[in-house]
Amino acid sequence: MNKFYITTPIYYVNASPHLGHAYTGVFADVIARYRRTKGDDVFFLTGTDEHGAKVMRAAEAAGVKVETFVDRQQEKFRNLAKDLMITHDDFIRTSDKKKHWPGAQKMWETLRKAGDIYLGKYEGQYCVGHEAFITDKDLENGTCIEHGVAPEHLVEENYFFRLSEYADRIRANIISGKFQILPEARKNEVLAMINEGLTDISFSRPSSDIPWGVPVPGDNKQTMYVWCDALANYLSAIGYGHSGKDAEKLMLYWPADLQIIGKDILRFHAIIWPGMLLAAGLPLPKVLIAHGHILSGAKKMSKTIGNVVDPNAVIAEYGAEILRNYLISEIPNFDDGDFTMTRFAEVYEAKFANSIGNIVSRIAAMIEKYAPEGIVRPDRAVLQTYRLRRFVPASAKEELVEVKGEDVELYVSQLAMEEYGKFMDAYHIGDAARVGWRLLEQCDAYIQEYQPFKLAATDLNGTKAILWNSTILLLGAMKMLRPIMPGTADKVFGVFHVSPDTACEDWKEIHASRVTPLFPRKEANK
Ligand code: MSP
Repeated sequence: MNKFYITTPIYYVNASPHLGHAYTGVFADVIARYRRTKGDDVFFLTGTDEHGAKVMRAAEAAGVKVETFVDRQQEKFRNLAKDLMITHDDFIRTSDKKKHWPGAQKMWETLRKAGDIYLGKYEGQYCVGHEAFITDKDLENGTCIEHGVAPEHLVEENYFFRLSEYADRIRANIISGKFQILPEARKNEVLAMINEGLTDISFSRPSSDIPWGVPVPGDNKQTMYVWCDALANYLSAIGYGHSGKDAEKLMLYWPADLQIIGKDILRFHAIIWPGMLLAAGLPLPKVLIAHGHILSGAKKMSKTIGNVVDPNAVIAEYGAEILRNYLISEIPNFDDGDFTMTRFAEVYEAKFANSIGNIVSRIAAMIEKYAPEGIVRPDRAVLQTYRLRRFVPASAKEELVEVKGEDVELYVSQLAMEEYGKFMDAYHIGDAARVGWRLLEQCDAYIQEYQPFKLAATDLNGTKAILWNSTILLLGAMKMLRPIMPGTADKVFGVFHVSPDTACEDWKEIHASRVTPLFPRKEANK
């Protein structure tokens, strides 16, 4: 059994979750679900980043103790994950002294013993939005371009991490593909950053300024820098810093197979994190994906900018699966994409009310009407008359379509599934979903062309054959869309009484139950 360790970043709890956070979570969840259906032993980690200046100040502003504040806030992220149907196996919190702190402190100790942590003086401009020192490049008229606030000028004694030592090895791992960064544009960005030269980075803050965090082992006057603490979560959650049974997962799952982040935190995950791992003598993650940003009004959706969309409101009106589909199929996976409620509503009408919803009820009603005994696999001779070939895209392998083209099961399970699997395995999950949506379009076009309801009076076997083919196309699409909309897919499989876990060639017969509309039209309700 293949193990597959997949992580999301841990979310800052200073503000409530917005659609940007939902995006990273859904992206990872779709991959985790797909891997599980392939039989992998998946361990899917998410959680919350609860330390640092940003969180501390938010608690002050809310007028509550920081412990109370983070308890309350992390609950919102957990609830959102649940409402979005995210199937993580664990949820780590950096304020968890039992589970997380030993790992974070072990990482520190290991780096110190390797000679890679030293005391120094730092003078620089700290942006609380970034939770990082920034440079003039990040500023415009004295304010941080991304967060729109002026950084604070700090002069303090800090511990430093000797990141500069690791530049060559990080670069070599990226170039050799041992540590793969996707998409290519982000990989090149990282290589350019390394080529510009890496300096050592400040890895702690005075506890007098930042008391809320993991204390530096052996020096309680210093608090670990929030990113050093946070990045260690990927290890602490699987037992780093623990022993015996509590550390078993570490042996099994590290290195991570896939870490998913947004492009705003690329440098931390593609440079600082690998630097820490190399210093600690641990293998690097296999793949790092940096997705694009959800924009709202052409700007990155963010609390600081104030243009956030509340995912809970969208879920309350449309349900989680419609949102999951929008995030994956309508926003480019590796680029920025705009979120507008107008477009969202259009996609709902077109793809859910009209496409899936309509197709399911039409086919189910016809099966009930024309084949009340349940529909059996019709003989191939009948199928020859109702050819599928012209609905298969030109890109499909012509010979297979020619020879076996009337065999819809082979078309779905060999051609379309192969294409889908290739996209999924390369993490192009939007393209994979589009293969599924295309099957639905083909299904619709096929029914339009042969009009099985008209044919029934003269050729009932023909009607059944067409319904058989249509159902296979529909269910093939549902198999592919299942990681995105598991509830909808399972409902549709339920309507036709077949299991989504068997190949369509093995379906011997299909029955249909009466179905209430899966996705009512919104305008009709108004
Ligand atoms: N706490 C750090 C991560 C530490 S990981 C060791 C952090 N948190 S965050 O809450 O600001 O962001 C968490 C994730 O949400 C990141 O992947 C980030 O890219 C993503 N998004 C936040 N806003 C976003 C958009 N508007 N669009 C898409 N994703 C963005 O960074």
